[in-house]
Amino acid sequence: MSEKKAVGGKKEMVQDMFNDIAPRYDLLNHLLSADIDKIWRKKVRKSLEENQPETILDVASGTGDLAIELSKLPVKKIIGMDIAAEMLDIGRKKIKKKGLENLIEMEVGDSENMKYKDASFDVVTVAFGVRNFENLDKGLKEMYRVVKTGGRVAVLEFSKPSAFPMKQVYQFYFRYILPGIGKLVSRNETAYTYLPNSVAAFPEGDEFMQRLKKAGFRNIKQNRLTFGISTLYIADK
Ligand SMILES: C[S@@+](CC[C@H](N)C(=O)[O-])C[C@H]1O[C@@H](n2cnc3c(N)ncnc32)[C@H](O)[C@@H]1O
Repeated sequence: MSEKKAVGGKKEMVQDMFNDIAPRYDLLNHLLSADIDKIWRKKVRKSLEENQPETILDVASGTGDLAIELSKLPVKKIIGMDIAAEMLDIGRKKIKKKGLENLIEMEVGDSENMKYKDASFDVVTVAFGVRNFENLDKGLKEMYRVVKTGGRVAVLEFSKPSAFPMKQVYQFYFRYILPGIGKLVSRNETAYTYLPNSVAAFPEGDEFMQRLKKAGFRNIKQNRLTFGISTLYIADK
């Protein structure tokens, strides 16, 4: 979905879609990525070790997988925030099962209009969330606002492999295999045609680094993971 076309309706559509697929999201996620997403989340944690954060905000936290991974850092508080209440409910159950309920709190909220005060967190993270924002620049500015000076943001997001033969394999998988499995398991018409379309429309790589710069960040780096299927962006305030 192109950012421009969707203005006005994208947020509601995304919220409804994730609320609808919430009970099947984790299964889909691990099935479609063959569990590689677990390795990527670990990379996010590693990239934050040197910051020694005590407080973390995980934006678009969904069912909380990144928040749970980040709880392995010596942190005092993690807030997982998401616009889809049903996703958070699944997350809360997982957090309780792991005995992490004193460390991780899940809160409903909109990443483009956060309730948190300026400079509230040592670190702000977002995994596979920014692609879904209705207004990307607004969301990035909000992330900049709520992180402390000297703090860091980590953004994990899908990207597109550019080298032969992964480029071709990926295109085939994304266009023909993924929407089919996605539709079958998620039982949601929009969900897995939305996924490849939103990845295709996302301003990845250098373009996304420019958007981070525009939001105010510095020391912006990108690390392409697994042939460039996803990219980890790190930026400081
Ligand atoms: C693909 S899921 C990723 C969830 C989780 N971070 C993960 O890695 O599994 C994208 C999430 O972004 C959330 N989202 C989309 N737009 C949002 C917004 N404006 N504010 C907060 N959350 C949003 C959706 O509700 C959904 O849970």
